[in-house]
Amino acid sequence: MNATPAAGPPVLEVRDLEVRFSVKREGLLAKPAQLYAVDGVSFDIAPGRTLGLVGESGSGKSTTALAAARLIPARGGRVELDGIELLSLEGESLRQQRRNVQFIFQDPYSSLNPRLRARDVVREPLDRLGIGSPAERASRVSELFRDVGLRPEQERLFPHQFSGGQRQRLGIARALASRPKLVICDEPVSALDVAVQAQILNLLRRLQREHGLTYLFISHDLGVIQHMCNEVAVMYTGRIVEQASRVRLFTRPLHPYTKALLSSVPSADPSRDSRAERILITGDPPSPIDPPAGCRFASRCPIAVERCRSETPLLADHEPGHRVACHRAGDPIAVATSPPH
Ligand SMILES: Nc1ncnc2c1ncn2[C@@H]1O[C@H](COP(=O)(O)OP(=O)(O)O)[C@@H](O)[C@H]1O
Ligand code: SF4
Ligand SMILES: [Mg+2]
Repeated sequence: MNATPAAGPPVLEVRDLEVRFSVKREGLLAKPAQLYAVDGVSFDIAPGRTLGLVGESGSGKSTTALAAARLIPARGGRVELDGIELLSLEGESLRQQRRNVQFIFQDPYSSLNPRLRARDVVREPLDRLGIGSPAERASRVSELFRDVGLRPEQERLFPHQFSGGQRQRLGIARALASRPKLVICDEPVSALDVAVQAQILNLLRRLQREHGLTYLFISHDLGVIQHMCNEVAVMYTGRIVEQASRVRLFTRPLHPYTKALLSSVPSADPSRDSRAERILITGDPPSPIDPPAGCRFASRCPIAVERCRSETPLLADHEPGHRVACHRAGDPIAVATSPPH
């Protein structure tokens, strides 16, 4: 299913993942409604590779990652990390697996305890998970500081004494402390200045090369995704609508939504055909609360047909390694169209 020739079995295998939230409806006696945040998501990540999840805000990227890491409950599906099914684990065996999946969040300031010194911020997961002796933990912290480009004397400072970029380095050191099998980067540079973004992205790439790290990399920014990922999955209202290798997705997108996303960043790929379809979509995605039947993009899709509103398009191989969920995958779109009303 993964387009990348894998160096072994996948590190992460996600199948039919579903997450719903109960949300209050208007009216005192109304029953809570179901918000379909993640609705049947499947993907693999091969060892040492990066899968990007891209999509607009609210499409379910973070919820997918949180559920795959067992930080919020899934309603259904299967998640295997290095062959171990995570969704059914409980108690001590779940605790043992916690060290194997770690997060790097968007805002390192709110995710780092402001009262701990930097060395304790990085060391805390080792203490909590009971990894190594006290002396081994201290030397691991020094090694991590070096690895992420922080100086030894910064170990005793507090998070607020660091710049935004340095704080994110601290967040990265903390995430790597337990030598996780999977690192989930959730918008790791979205809160940083553009110049600092490049430094952090390059650091993440260097660390991946040196330590063979496997990343699930979430971003709404196609430029960042293009810089970081081997494989890209596009999400729209809780579902993956297209997945392919980076080169393939950026040069030969097949789903109308992916085409629209790409045409909103004209410089995303200089090698892309300059006559590539330019698609302007307007309006908002449908509400994730009791979403409509059929294709969720139908209300904004310039080439929607009757079938799209009744029959859900399934994510299927259009060509080996290029999956798309669209009844008209690859059909041309008339230039400068606006969606039907
Ligand atoms: N704890 C929650 N309770 C209710 N709804 C939530 C919660 N977390 C996320 N959602 C909703 O789930 C959907 C997906 O959100 P999210 O995964 O955060 O999207 P993304 O990361 O792509 O921006 C959104 O409609 C969001 O409002
Ligand atoms: S299934 Fe239909 S509505 Fe959905 S993206 Fe394809 S053509 Fe558009
Ligand atoms: Mg998010």
